[in-house]
Amino acid sequence: MTGMSHSNMTRNTVADLRIMEVPQIKDTRGNLAVVEAETIPFEIKRVYYLYDVPSDSFRGGHAHKKLQQFLIPLSGSFDVVTKDGFGNEKTFMLNKPNKALLIVPGIWRELTNFSSGAVCLVLASTKYSEEDYIRDLNSFIDYKNKKQ
Ligand code: TYD
Repeated sequence: MTGMSHSNMTRNTVADLRIMEVPQIKDTRGNLAVVEAETIPFEIKRVYYLYDVPSDSFRGGHAHKKLQQFLIPLSGSFDVVTKDGFGNEKTFMLNKPNKALLIVPGIWRELTNFSSGAVCLVLASTKYSEEDYIRDLNSFIDYKNKKQ
């Protein structure tokens, strides 16, 4: 959905980040949201979730070279602060279980302001690989701004 951005992820900017609606079936008995393969623009290789997060907790604080993620706030709310290494920053408040954030590669993210009981479900495009992480902000900025 972000067009060219996947072919050269180092050029991705915060403008490539999208809140995506998860189709839902509303019912007085309770709502049901469905993620099908077609709902997201990558093949899911891994699913994990954050829960029991202390409210003063700070998660993320890294970027990925290849990994794409689809973040769903299953319960409660939290903020995702994103940076693209070109000086642009954008904060997304995730607080609706049918509104997810698609994070393309090459974006720094920090997760903060977790509400009590918040649960963040992450659908991921690759298996866990520490080599895919950039955990130092200055290294990330260098990575994004190096000549291609
Ligand atoms: P990390 O991705 O840094 O967490 P967050 O971005 O939510 O703050 O991962 C925290 C730790 O968990 C780190 O030691 C790596 C490990 N980990 C796995 O072993 N497998 C996984 O799939 C994930 C996401 C993390």
